[in-house]
Amino acid sequence: MSITAVLGCLYGDEGKGKIIDALASDVDVTIRFQGGSNAGHTIKFDGNDHILHLIPSGIFHSNQKCVLATGVVIDLCQLEDEMNGLTEKGVSFSDRFYIDERASVVLRLHKFLDKKSEADANNEKIGTTQRGIGPCYTDSISRNGVKFYDLKNKDTLQKKITNLYLLHHIEMNEAEILDQIEDLQNHYAKVKEYVVNLPYLVDKWIKEGKNILFEGAQGSLLDVYFGTYPFVTSSHTIAGGIASAVGCSPKHIDQIIGVYKSYFTRVGSGPFPTELNDKIGEKIREQGHEYGSTTGRPRRCGWFDVVSAKYSTMINGVDSIALTLLDVLTGFDTLKICTGYDYGYHKNLYQENEFPADTSLLANIKPIYIELPGWQEDISTCKKWNDLPENAKQYVLTLESLLETPIRIVSVGPNRDQTIYVGK
Ligand code: GDP
Ligand code: IMO
Ligand code: MG
Repeated sequence: MSITAVLGCLYGDEGKGKIIDALASDVDVTIRFQGGSNAGHTIKFDGNDHILHLIPSGIFHSNQKCVLATGVVIDLCQLEDEMNGLTEKGVSFSDRFYIDERASVVLRLHKFLDKKSEADANNEKIGTTQRGIGPCYTDSISRNGVKFYDLKNKDTLQKKITNLYLLHHIEMNEAEILDQIEDLQNHYAKVKEYVVNLPYLVDKWIKEGKNILFEGAQGSLLDVYFGTYPFVTSSHTIAGGIASAVGCSPKHIDQIIGVYKSYFTRVGSGPFPTELNDKIGEKIREQGHEYGSTTGRPRRCGWFDVVSAKYSTMINGVDSIALTLLDVLTGFDTLKICTGYDYGYHKNLYQENEFPADTSLLANIKPIYIELPGWQEDISTCKKWNDLPENAKQYVLTLESLLETPIRIVSVGPNRDQTIYVGK
């Protein structure tokens, strides 16, 4: 038995979907533990991109069970669309898909509030995905959320949804609320066979010795506590959030695999010290097809930042790293890695190698870089560590040494077979 967490350790879109899919042959159950349809996890096989927003990335492996845990916020319409799309591709859900009764429901109101908050001139623009994620978590934490178990009962739904409109000072007529309830209950009827009291099932799987994989969404630098607040998502994306989002003991987690891109990207607003607003940034964006899987927005691109990546390694207790998109760095004369922050005027507050608590400081720090030689060879067909050119190996080994954590997987393309297991 092994219980593994696979987590994005940067600003999301690190290639979690690809890595989870590549590891799938050793996994019995994949449990998505947080986030909602703000996520977009891409899995590529048979020449096609398959983008998953809610459904766990193990779904294409028919022997695997897939779970949405308590910590996930679920838009029922999105869920049904995604399940229908997958069913058309031949995926079966019967006896292998589960949703915890405690999971929160994303309502029309939440999507409205998310859009309104981003449009309001007085508010900080977070650049959210506008999927209603923040407002749904907010209502859940303020103890007013709609849970999956509420979907059974029309009267409960009416009371709760009416109350939410009152709480948010939004006028809403009864007919519209009833229409929403009908819509929710229609969607619910299609998924209710999958709804379970999850902690008991997870406990059973643990006792049976199943191999369980916890799938993270977003990335550690978007964690609501430890990310670049307020430019973060609204859930706990880090390893510490798993147990409370699933309803199992943290002592069961055996290993944490951190997924890191070979460079940095970010969608939405917020500080990004190594961002490249120049031809190099554009070249990375084009070579890496860096456009959001959920919103299609161009991703901001920049050099690898060891200070924030190492902070992420530390807060998650990362045991080993999967380094993705190395092939995208082909064709550069030199590559830079940020190894420290020059805090300038604020240098008394933090060390050069320290990620600040007040991340607004990141807007003004000067990255301290080292430079490494690039490589020109196409590495997308490399199958083994020794197939990689010396400079590519040197880049990976330098990151490994700076992060003080073994890099066990190097990904050189989006397909399943473009994965190098270092040391195997
Ligand atoms: P996730 O949200 O972490 O699952 O990542 P996304 O799917 O949003 O974004 C990662 C993108 O990179 C997807 O389009 C993947 O198909 C692609 N990808 C993953 N690994 C690699 C890789 O090693 N090389 C290249 N070129 N693309 C990759
Ligand atoms: P995956 O799982 C990258 C970003 C948004 C925005 C901030 C808050 O594919 O890695 P939200 O809609 O969550 O309230 O937006 O978080 N964001 C992501 N960025 N990948 C994601 O998911 C993201 N999910 C949210 O762009 O900056
Ligand atoms: Mg993504």
